[in-house]
Amino acid sequence: MNEKVIQQVKQRYGIVGNYEGLNRSIDIAIQVAPTELSVLIYGESGVGKEVLPRVIHDNSARKHNKYFAINCGSLPEGTIDSELFGHKKGSFTGALDDREGYFSVANNGTLFLDEVGELPLATQARLLRVLETGEYIRVGESEVRKTNVRIVAATNVNMQKAIREGKFREDLYYRLNTIPINMPPLRERGRDIELLFRKFAYDISEKYRIEPVRLTEDARVLLLQYKWPGNIRQLRNLVEQISIISKEREITPEILMSYGVTDDSLGETGLVLHGQNREVHGQNVHSYEKERDMLFQLLSSIGKEVKDLKELVHNNMEHRQSPSQENYRILDEDMTEMNAPMQYGHQTVIRQPQPYIVNEQRYPSQNEPYSSHNIQEVDIEPIEDAPMSNRELMRKNIIESLRRNNGNRKKTATELDISERTLYRKIKEYGLEI
Ligand SMILES: Nc1ncnc2c1ncn2[C@@H]1O[C@H](COP(=O)(O)OP(=O)(O)O)[C@@H](O)[C@H]1O
Ligand SMILES: [Mg+2]
Repeated sequence: MNEKVIQQVKQRYGIVGNYEGLNRSIDIAIQVAPTELSVLIYGESGVGKEVLPRVIHDNSARKHNKYFAINCGSLPEGTIDSELFGHKKGSFTGALDDREGYFSVANNGTLFLDEVGELPLATQARLLRVLETGEYIRVGESEVRKTNVRIVAATNVNMQKAIREGKFREDLYYRLNTIPINMPPLRERGRDIELLFRKFAYDISEKYRIEPVRLTEDARVLLLQYKWPGNIRQLRNLVEQISIISKEREITPEILMSYGVTDDSLGETGLVLHGQNREVHGQNVHSYEKERDMLFQLLSSIGKEVKDLKELVHNNMEHRQSPSQENYRILDEDMTEMNAPMQYGHQTVIRQPQPYIVNEQRYPSQNEPYSSHNIQEVDIEPIEDAPMSNRELMRKNIIESLRRNNGNRKKTATELDISERTLYRKIKEYGLEI
């Protein structure tokens, strides 16, 4: 293990922690980067899986080509094939134009397939083919196309179990799993918990110009034995909440408990049971923990939707006020992120002309200051000079929403918060029927 290189990577990507299992994972990522091997990253939700594919890409011969991160769990089942492989105009309702998929736009680059265990079986078959032969076919076409994409995948589900239950193809699993990397859960990482607490407390104090919160000795002990079902994501949100809401700067166990941290050393505590039946990769984790994880995800998606809506409204208003301004939309980088209202400095600007979310993240080069690591790439393209009228905006929103929902009008109406009847009328009015 090359300690120096590992430390450099940690600094460059803002990875905090000294736990041996973490160092080992980073080490494997560095070693495997220059090869063409497929990598499968395992780890519970919130452990920090998403940084490794980027490390791999940046340290590979593909580093000057495209990198895309796709969350397979957040793509609607009906459009997933078209997102990945592209489609031909008219191949389904809402397919108003030809579309290139990720396997085309990421040619010679790297695709990170997050939550790969969520892929539908039909998509798995297509994925296997492209991995084995480099060939794929766009939805609605018969022409075979070629691509050269390196796949790094991640999962928080037990793949063996998914295979046993017929939810995941075994052949695809072996193809993806050439090099497995395990990201350890936070509860195993001991003193890293404290280091991360301090990092997040410092970050937020800088951002809001407030005094950072600090832990009493007892509070430190409590954090070390807590089970952290939502891992680092949960810790970050906890520190953000306490930093903003709590009047105290010296954080005691009582304060932590009032924010939901339980004393897991006592065994059953109402929410989390003491590590029993736990195995790696999340199998047999107690159902309370799963429930809690699900709640985190639910809160996360609600938080994100509110944030997206706010930003959409904000951008539209800005657009109307200053016609010369570029028109862009900001979405959260992580679809599963539990960002809540206090999410900060973690945004990706999406290229507006892309009908779907294209998630191109950027990490700093070695020369850039470390503090900017969590500000994502701002890749803005003006879409047109004149501002869009309300009518044009509505038309555009309908087209995009129809695409996202694979032409399903009911879902589109719900997403746009208009009645189905209004949607039908608008589709007719804007000539969107095909
Ligand atoms: N070692 C680390 N140091 C600092 N922040 C981290 C670290 N690992 C993860 N994070 C942060 O924790 C959050 C969850 O990480 P993420 O990669 O999205 O988790 P996963 O994909 O495993 O669910 C992100 O905001 C990430 O920036
Ligand atoms: Mg993730």
